Amino acid sequence: MKKTFYVTTPIYYPSGKLHIGNAYTTVLCDTLKRYKNLLGYDTRYLTGMDEHGKKIEAVALERELSPIEHVAEIALDTQALWQRLSIDYDDFIRTTEKRHKTVVQKIFEQLLSEGDIYLGTYEGYYCMPCESFYTETQLGDHHTCPDCQRETSLLEEESYFFRLSKYQKRLLKFIEEHPDFITPETRRNEVLSFIRQGLNDLSVSRTTFDWGIKVVSNPKHVVYVWIDALSNYISALGYGTDGDHMYQKYWLGNEVLHVVGKDILRFHAIYWPIMLMALDIPITFKLHAHGFYMMKDGKMSKSKGGVIYPDTVLERYGLDAFRYYLLRELPYGGDGLFSPDAFIERINFDLANDFGNLLNRTIAMVNKYFEGQITSQLEHTTDYDGDLVKTINEVKKEYQESMDTLKVSLAIQAIWKLISRTNKYIDETAPWILAKNEKDMKILENVLYHLVESLRHIGILLKPILLEAHQNLFSQLGIEPNLQTWESYEFGLLKTVHVVEKPTPIFPRWDVAKEVESLQELIRGKKVKKTVKIPEVTIDDFSKLDLRIGEIIASKPHPDADKLLVSNIDIGHGEVRQIVSGIAQHYQPETLIGKKVIVVTNLKPVKLRGVLSEGMVLAGSNKNTLEIITSSQLNPGDLVK
Ligand code: MSP
Repeated sequence: MKKTFYVTTPIYYPSGKLHIGNAYTTVLCDTLKRYKNLLGYDTRYLTGMDEHGKKIEAVALERELSPIEHVAEIALDTQALWQRLSIDYDDFIRTTEKRHKTVVQKIFEQLLSEGDIYLGTYEGYYCMPCESFYTETQLGDHHTCPDCQRETSLLEEESYFFRLSKYQKRLLKFIEEHPDFITPETRRNEVLSFIRQGLNDLSVSRTTFDWGIKVVSNPKHVVYVWIDALSNYISALGYGTDGDHMYQKYWLGNEVLHVVGKDILRFHAIYWPIMLMALDIPITFKLHAHGFYMMKDGKMSKSKGGVIYPDTVLERYGLDAFRYYLLRELPYGGDGLFSPDAFIERINFDLANDFGNLLNRTIAMVNKYFEGQITSQLEHTTDYDGDLVKTINEVKKEYQESMDTLKVSLAIQAIWKLISRTNKYIDETAPWILAKNEKDMKILENVLYHLVESLRHIGILLKPILLEAHQNLFSQLGIEPNLQTWESYEFGLLKTVHVVEKPTPIFPRWDVAKEVESLQELIRGKKVKKTVKIPEVTIDDFSKLDLRIGEIIASKPHPDADKLLVSNIDIGHGEVRQIVSGIAQHYQPETLIGKKVIVVTNLKPVKLRGVLSEGMVLAGSNKNTLEIITSSQLNPGDLVK
């Protein structure tokens, strides 16, 4: 039977677009899952969204959407982003799903009936953006939030409390007896000293808002964020239901890993194990808390801006460059900087020069000297073969040790050690000199064989990290699938090589100054000037459009979409069209009556949220406003050219 590996990311708040910091955790877990797959594990990867809470309700309100509409939209965007990042998750849990709610309600009632949760009152200074209460001593000057420096307000409310204090000793003992429960060690020490200061009981319900899971036995309360959120790790496995085979298989399986940012360490290292203890569920997980990606000007925040979003970077520089940078640049245990200079330099030096060039040169030489085909010639040795093979073997060990201890940046550095060693091997053996002498041809073939063999090993190690480049490498070198596996990481298994005729560079090199500037503009929130020109059209293309003046004779809100209006427009010659337009946020329907507008009359009819639209009204917009283009002198049916 295969060993199991269950890995989870935090579930993200749908409070805004996810930034590269959030993407880091997700990419890291993806890499760990792929690594375990490489080793032959049976893996399961869970990610998702933490959709309840006052803050989410407020963000939805601001967008004039209901909370459920808002979270549904962000969940779709997030899944689309993970798809673009090739995240191989197996399940995406949303806390608004029934399968989750049922489990949370059951857990809450169980804790209540066993006396681990009790009713009390809560008074504190509440910070809405952070969804946290603080005591007066924790606040900054003017009662501001110690985390985000925004204003707090004093609230008192009835609340259920979770008896953390009851489990303090047991948790301390558990952490002391399991030295690798929390990594890195510095984080473990932080948690230990926090627990030793004494745990206060935790407020776990709210009555001041209702965008949450209701407490079954007292529905004026909703379950407050952490019991709701943390339970996702087992609700997604069907815990507590008839269909709990995933829970049996993965939670009670061999390895369970929660990866979180340092910001939510305490919740996972203290509340979650205590919840499990109280519920009599085994604590099978290990917890890894990584540091943060920072911008030059400080922390990234979904609400504050000054950050960089994955889609824009991905679109321009590609999936592997982005994944590589994220995984390589954040040091184990510490924070890292997302810096445009370092980003472009890493692509140019590590990916294009060191790695891409090695592959290119190797293929070019196999073509040039052996018409693309070589076989293993191990008896025709050079003085440098031994050391190269030794590095191949050593690097495997280093890589595995680093990956097993979640030091992915170090694992990548181990791969680059092999890449450098292989590049050095070219300098040492100087194939171009060997090629000058007919009698050295076998040695030359042996040298090229070593290069291809080394690249094959590099490809295997890169499988969890560079998703497109490793495939590219294998296909350009003509490596069969059975020699791309972890089991085939053994020098000499490759017998014959047949490379592509024309190598294609796997990473382009970028102009540092230009790219750094456009990245900086992106960070400042400006749109980069598009390098692609807007395509030209001919007068014939333009004249395909039938543009006419139309007069709006009726208009009303769309029955199912807040942003749309449905108008009836007289376009002359006795014809009236029904047209749906996205202008409801800018115009009251009754103010449109009598306006003479420009209509695209030969646009193919479509249904917009179930209502037929037979044309389009032209409008102009900028970032502040939107305005319909109107005419005063012309009449319905007049042509616009
Ligand atoms: N909803 C909670 C988590 C509940 S888990 C049961 C939450 N969500 S969040 O949207 O704020 O995402 C937090 C996570 O995103 C962090 O824990 C971390 O994993 C990741 N990151 C957020 N900013 C980050 C950086 N700047 N750098 C690296 N990771 C970052 O907290």
